[in-house]
Amino acid sequence: MGSILAIDQGTTSTRAILFDDRMQIQAVAQEEFPQHFPRSGWVEHDPSDIWSSTAATCRAVMERAGLRGDDILAIGITNQRETVLLWDRDTGQPLHNAIVWQDRRTAATCASLREAGHEPMISARTGLIIDPYFSATKLAWLLDNIDGARDRARAGRLAFGTVDSFLIWRLTGGRAHVTDATNAARTMLYNIAEGRWDEEICALFDIPTAILPEVRDCASDFGLTRADLFGREIPIFGVAGDQQAATLGQACFQPGMVKSTYGTGCFALVNTGTQHLTSRNRLLSTIAYQLDGTPCYALEGSIFIAGAVVQWLRDGLRMIRDAAETQPLAEQADPHQAVYLVPAFTGLGAPYWDAEARGAIYGLTRATGPAELARAALESVGYQTRDLMEAMAADMEGLTVATLRVDGGMSASDWTMQFLADILGAPVDRPQLRETTALGAAWLAGMRAGIYPDKEGFARAWALDRQFTPQMAPEIRDAKYAGWKDAVRRTLHQTP
Ligand code: G3P
Repeated sequence: MGSILAIDQGTTSTRAILFDDRMQIQAVAQEEFPQHFPRSGWVEHDPSDIWSSTAATCRAVMERAGLRGDDILAIGITNQRETVLLWDRDTGQPLHNAIVWQDRRTAATCASLREAGHEPMISARTGLIIDPYFSATKLAWLLDNIDGARDRARAGRLAFGTVDSFLIWRLTGGRAHVTDATNAARTMLYNIAEGRWDEEICALFDIPTAILPEVRDCASDFGLTRADLFGREIPIFGVAGDQQAATLGQACFQPGMVKSTYGTGCFALVNTGTQHLTSRNRLLSTIAYQLDGTPCYALEGSIFIAGAVVQWLRDGLRMIRDAAETQPLAEQADPHQAVYLVPAFTGLGAPYWDAEARGAIYGLTRATGPAELARAALESVGYQTRDLMEAMAADMEGLTVATLRVDGGMSASDWTMQFLADILGAPVDRPQLRETTALGAAWLAGMRAGIYPDKEGFARAWALDRQFTPQMAPEIRDAKYAGWKDAVRRTLHQTP
């Protein structure tokens, strides 16, 4: 019947994954690309790397599966969110490197915006808090710092886009300047309640609306690829930001369903249905997906360091050679040592949002060794998830948060997932297919192409690999979590 090509353009690598007509993976291709850190706290990507790694992985995956353009029914795109690109509409050339979501160069601008009292209005309309994480201040920085950019933008000669939008522009040979509602929702320029770019917020940042892409549903017609790329014009039928695509891939369609993805960081989203909730606990309110013109909302908690803490044990401390050594080490740790690692390497995200906090370790004794540090590193992921789940439960206004569905690299660690269930005091479900982000993008495209089931059918196809149930005694759980809260309190730069 034909295959679906999912493109997953992430922060450190680009992947292309082919799914057959039964939503099974046929082949995967992946390419890492360089990260640029021009100054402390700045993070950039070269747009030509984003594009060339996308084109190369698409070609490689087709070759690997022995497929040609004629065999691909449609393309779905999922991407690192918030990252900003600005290019010339005539030449297609970017004016600058992409400014990546992790980049903190606009921290001072954000602080002055907060001081000037703009946060309540911006939060009410965009669901976000004022933070450099989101696109708006990064785009304003480009317009302020590139000679003549604002005038060219006003004259309609420039185009802004998040990574999805940039890739669609390139794939379609400049025929489509579009994005989807989930990516628009991360720009801090999009009114998520009314489903439109917010002119007042754009005016506040002096961002001409002529540079903004048109916003579409996640399963929609985003344009046809250039014929010379894959031998024929292939329709792009699905787009969603990576965390939203994972929410779809985990079939979290019912209000109260939560997914948590453990990559470099951790992003947990709880479906809140048609209710656009305003968090009282510093979570973000966002669009989980938009189908048939109807947005489904979510609360999101973003943790900046999850898997990256294991990378730090390996590359920073050189305590292990391979990430897989962490679990066996943690298992040997002395249960009587209360060692806490707060991985605030780049500040703390939700629910603390303290950009100035830095990492700390507490409870060291002379008996503390690599095993206790490894355990503290893995446990920090569980504790941070509990922080998010507590904030979600407090925000949910009568909705019960259901079982947590997990995915991403770290979800492969049984030890970490068991600790997560223990510290949450709730079951943790790991699906058989853990490529949920790519699956979500593929499902959108395949559904639109008419070969994949609707929401209900897709939800029925979700299959459990393993459920982790809490084994820890409640008094131990409470004592351990209280120790974590105390460690965070001592780490914070500002009082929450
Ligand atoms: O919000 C940032 C997020 O979309 C990045 O995800 O997986 O590329 O690190 P990832």
